[in-house]
Amino acid sequence: MPEESETEVVRQSTLLYLAELKKLGFQVGECKIALKTIKEQDWAQDWKKSFEPIFVTDHIVVIPSWEQTQFPGKTVIRIKPGTAFGTGDHATTQLCIRALQRFVQLGDRIVDVGCGSGILCIAAVKFGASYALGLDIDQDAVENARENLALNGVEGSVEIRQATLSRGLSRKRFHLAVANLDRREIIESFDRIQMLLKSRGVLIFSGILKQEEKNMRDFFTKKHLRQIEATSQEQWICFAAKK
Ligand SMILES: C[S@@+](CC[C@H](N)C(=O)[O-])C[C@H]1O[C@@H](n2cnc3c(N)ncnc32)[C@H](O)[C@@H]1O
Repeated sequence: MPEESETEVVRQSTLLYLAELKKLGFQVGECKIALKTIKEQDWAQDWKKSFEPIFVTDHIVVIPSWEQTQFPGKTVIRIKPGTAFGTGDHATTQLCIRALQRFVQLGDRIVDVGCGSGILCIAAVKFGASYALGLDIDQDAVENARENLALNGVEGSVEIRQATLSRGLSRKRFHLAVANLDRREIIESFDRIQMLLKSRGVLIFSGILKQEEKNMRDFFTKKHLRQIEATSQEQWICFAAKK
């Protein structure tokens, strides 16, 4: 709450909220409301402390924009933590980065559907792609992604657009498409993703829960796709398939 909030209003609405929870059947128990002023400066520093370098593999490290430590011999991806998804800590992002490292070939053109912070586009270029197109419907994500391109010196090879998939998106087809969305969105967007891909192009799909694995495999069969890999981390699964 901002410091200038009316404390009595905050107190009353909190009590009201708890009463509503009780009505819904939650065990709220005895409650005491305490108010404490927190210095904004401390808060900003504490927030930074939770962003440590993340080793996605022994050789790939994702670091926050302010990190000073050097990582010689490693592939370093610098990300400004913002509101966009893709700071590198999530299993679905890490699965995609590892898959990209295995499947991106020198000179490839790749498209990232739902690019968030732009982390996957940046990774793809660092692994040898000559061009990456990142699409996101969220304006904050697009702004954050563009900042991250500059932080990594890849502005010349990556383009970020506030858009979703559409037929006229690109005149040239892509060697690889990556989508870290969710099963429903992947299935919904599949035909448009496929249209952008060269024959024998690679598809990387993340954001799928382990319990959705069979459903995804059946979908690949229906679409005549050849699954080439399935990797997992925590409750998530990432598929790579070929057209
Ligand atoms: C789970 S995040 C993935 C971010 C990043 N690619 C990563 O792997 O960390 C999904 C992103 O997709 C975007 N998104 C969701 N549906 C989309 C769609 N139909 N077209 C484009 N972007 C979409 C969201 O705004 C969000 O930024």
